[in-house]
Amino acid sequence: MVTGKDSVEEAKKNAAREACNIVSKKISSNTILGLGTGSTIKYFIDECREFIEEVKGAVVSSYDTLYYMLERELDIPIYDPLSIKKIDIYVDGADEVSTTLDLVKGRGAALLREKYLALRSSTRVYVVDYTKYTGLEYLYKKPIPVEVIPFALPIVLESVRELGLFTPVLRHGIKKDGPIVTDNGNFIVDLKPIKPIEDPFEIDRKLRLIHGVVETGIFPSRELVDVVVVGYSDHVDILEKKSIE
Ligand code: 5RP
Repeated sequence: MVTGKDSVEEAKKNAAREACNIVSKKISSNTILGLGTGSTIKYFIDECREFIEEVKGAVVSSYDTLYYMLERELDIPIYDPLSIKKIDIYVDGADEVSTTLDLVKGRGAALLREKYLALRSSTRVYVVDYTKYTGLEYLYKKPIPVEVIPFALPIVLESVRELGLFTPVLRHGIKKDGPIVTDNGNFIVDLKPIKPIEDPFEIDRKLRLIHGVVETGIFPSRELVDVVVVGYSDHVDILEKKSIE
């Protein structure tokens, strides 16, 4: 029997295989593919390499994914996202998934570019292992990362505390002293929810009104999610937004 860490890795691989199955039916030689960031996306890139190399080109959400693709010598043009108006299909991981298919993303600090690519995409597919799917109707389990302009950090911390919904914690590096710096030169503040987030769409907007907040890791189902593939060690569940509306 597969247990613990091995079962999570197995679940990620199963989800990545199924996502590849879904994506392979939707791509052609004209497709622009968007790729997110994280360990599950790396499994997806490996599992789906054959199909990925058939598309017209890819856009990626981080240096991490870019360097992974270069290391793996994928035979595919990688475009600057600014040069692409429409992405046909976007595939990414997530940190928390509710039953309403609202998501928390940004453990890898790539949330700003991830949201940009998701907003530009016609179809958004997220690939997660079973530990991410909470079975709850609201978001609550994982801190919400927000990307913050360094200069504005004090006002962001004060404004978040005033909302009374989160405990804000500046994210520090592990092999670096001080705050981590994103691919965009900003800081990340993790907001630990004090109570369930029952209206993620509204909270996302409220947080983005704070001076100095560039983006949040809340990906509201209603505007940024189409399909979530949840992997287990022995099966996969495909959750589609249409079926829950
Ligand atoms: C990075 C992300 C990742 O997609 C998310 O953290 C999932 O990562 P993993 O697949 O490694 O669990 O949002 O900013």
